[in-house]
Amino acid sequence: MTTVTMTINGKTVSGDIEGNTLLSSFLREDLQLTGTHIGCDTSQCGACVVHVDGKPVKSCTMFAAEAEGADVATIEGQANSDGSLNVVQQAFQDHHGLQCGFCTPGMVMTTVALLKENPKPTEAEVREHLEGNICRCTGYHNIVKAILAASGQDVSAIAAE
Ligand code: FES
Ligand code: FES
Repeated sequence: MTTVTMTINGKTVSGDIEGNTLLSSFLREDLQLTGTHIGCDTSQCGACVVHVDGKPVKSCTMFAAEAEGADVATIEGQANSDGSLNVVQQAFQDHHGLQCGFCTPGMVMTTVALLKENPKPTEAEVREHLEGNICRCTGYHNIVKAILAASGQDVSAIAAE
C-alpha cells in the first residue's frame, strides 16, 4: 500500500492505495466520485476524462500514484459556485447534447479543456478534439452544436437533430 495525496476539485484528499490503482478507480471507488465513468478500460471511450494539472487525461490510463501532488478536476467540481450548471453543461442541456448521459461527464471535461485552449473553435476543430470521446447515442451532431454554443457562437442556423 502507498499513500497518495492530491487536490481534487479544490480539496486536499489522501488515500491508501495499491500501487497499481488507476486514477479512475481511486476517484470512483475510494472517493465515490462516480461522475467519472468507466466505459471501456482500454483508453478508447473518453468517459473517464478528468483534468490533471489543467490538462484533460483519460483517468483509466493513469495510476493514482502518478497524480501525487497534482491538481485534479472532475465533473463533480464543474458547476458554478452557486450550484448552477457551467456554460458547457448548460449548453449540453439547451442543445440536447446528451441522451443516456453516459459519455457526458467525459464530453464536458474534454470540452472545458478545449475551450480553455481554443475559445472559438470551428466545427472541424470541435470534431477533431472529440476524437477520443465516444458517444453511442447522439450521433455527435448535438454535442458539436452544444460546444459551439458554449463558445458563444451563433448556432441558430444549425438544424436540431
Ligand atoms: Fe477510460 Fe474508456 S474508461 S477511456
Ligand atoms: Fe449516451 Fe453519449 S449520450 S453515450
